[in-house]
Amino acid sequence: MRGKAIQAVRGMNDILPGEAHLWEFFEDTVQDWLRGYGYRGIRMPLVENTELFVRSIGEVTDIVEKEMYSFTDRLNGDSLTLRPEGTASCVRAVVEHNLLYGGPQRLWYSGAMFRHERPQKGRYRQFHQVGVEALGFAGPDIDAEQIVMGARLWRQLKLPDIALQINTLGDSESRARYRSRVQDYLQRHADAFDEAARERIQKNPLRVLDSKDPALQDVIADAPKLIAELDGPARQHFEQLQAVLLDLGITYEINPRLVRGLDYYNLTVFEWVTDRLGAQGTVCAGGRYDGLIEQIGGKPAPACGFAMGIERLLALMADNGNREPPQPHAYIVHQGDAASRLAWRIAERLRDAGFEAILHCGGGSFKAQVKKADASRAHYAVIIGDDEVSANDVSLKPLRTAGEQRRMNVEQLITLMHSIEEN
Ligand code: HAM
Repeated sequence: MRGKAIQAVRGMNDILPGEAHLWEFFEDTVQDWLRGYGYRGIRMPLVENTELFVRSIGEVTDIVEKEMYSFTDRLNGDSLTLRPEGTASCVRAVVEHNLLYGGPQRLWYSGAMFRHERPQKGRYRQFHQVGVEALGFAGPDIDAEQIVMGARLWRQLKLPDIALQINTLGDSESRARYRSRVQDYLQRHADAFDEAARERIQKNPLRVLDSKDPALQDVIADAPKLIAELDGPARQHFEQLQAVLLDLGITYEINPRLVRGLDYYNLTVFEWVTDRLGAQGTVCAGGRYDGLIEQIGGKPAPACGFAMGIERLLALMADNGNREPPQPHAYIVHQGDAASRLAWRIAERLRDAGFEAILHCGGGSFKAQVKKADASRAHYAVIIGDDEVSANDVSLKPLRTAGEQRRMNVEQLITLMHSIEEN
């Protein structure tokens, strides 16, 4: 009996062959771009101890309060969590393997992240990030480097209209002063807030400034600004960052309301946003997190990083004109035992010579096979039948250009295909 069809989990998407080429193009571009700045890869597990995320992202955040996929290890009862982001895992790995003893590290990772959010366009429960973390660097030069990197990547991917917003959260002293000023201010307006928000005013007042609730926007807009609380070194850090951006012609807007949804940040925070994607317009975001390494049990060291949402960037790329799927060079059509044996050898010869060749599998008439060749988007059909076997050659039929079918031996085939490649 045919079983009931099983579907993917809501908010977790298949990436189908029709879109895979776009992912591959993106991944290739990103790897070259990262090498250009000297970042090295690191790969962390998808699952970590829940405590890692609670301690780093912060107890009073949307992610930790309601979005984590957590479960109990059935053997020892440990609470484990599917990673909702990569920074905490990356820092854990760096501390665990003492990577900072070898000096500062520029690292990157890529992969699936999991958050139990309400799915909508651009917001998924399994989504993919490329994350970049520079650990052991204290100065604003590395913050600037990471912003400059973003600007270059958008150019390389030909993505216009991605705007940069920056802000500073200050150092721990200015932040503590600011926190209590915001708390006082919000308490004075507590009538406007619901129960949950009032609780947040107590536990994490800065997070309230992040609220998207339309009813609170007026109160939030008039809240004290951190910039007014900044003292010497924090102010200098922010100014030096801006000086590099100005020098390199990178335009930005200072958004005093940019506080980010994770608690580990201090000093610089930034987001790259577009208005082409509707509500989920942040394609890349990050900042400095100088306290996190120590918080996770490492020797104190400063750090800065960012992560981009691959689905959102790909949606922008698709919006910008679809990239054609790749075209194989040849599709090899064959009929009869002897022809098949020759077809196998020729397919391998073509691949030895660096060509992409699809060998027809599954039999069928020449006509049906040539139809498949055409549908494969290949440039040529290489046809092998009894006649070709007895002459030890092949017939080459152009599929994308006008031109006659021609007979030739394998050497001539390879030479011809190389000359076409070069033109
Ligand atoms: P985040 O802002 O939570 O930061 O996520 C970074 C990016 O991931 C977002 O700007 C967005 O493009 C994408 N993203 C987040 N949630 C979803 C979702 N549910 N569906 C689709 N895309 C999503 C972090 O994760 C930090 N770890 C960034 C960082 C690295 N900070 C320092 N180093």
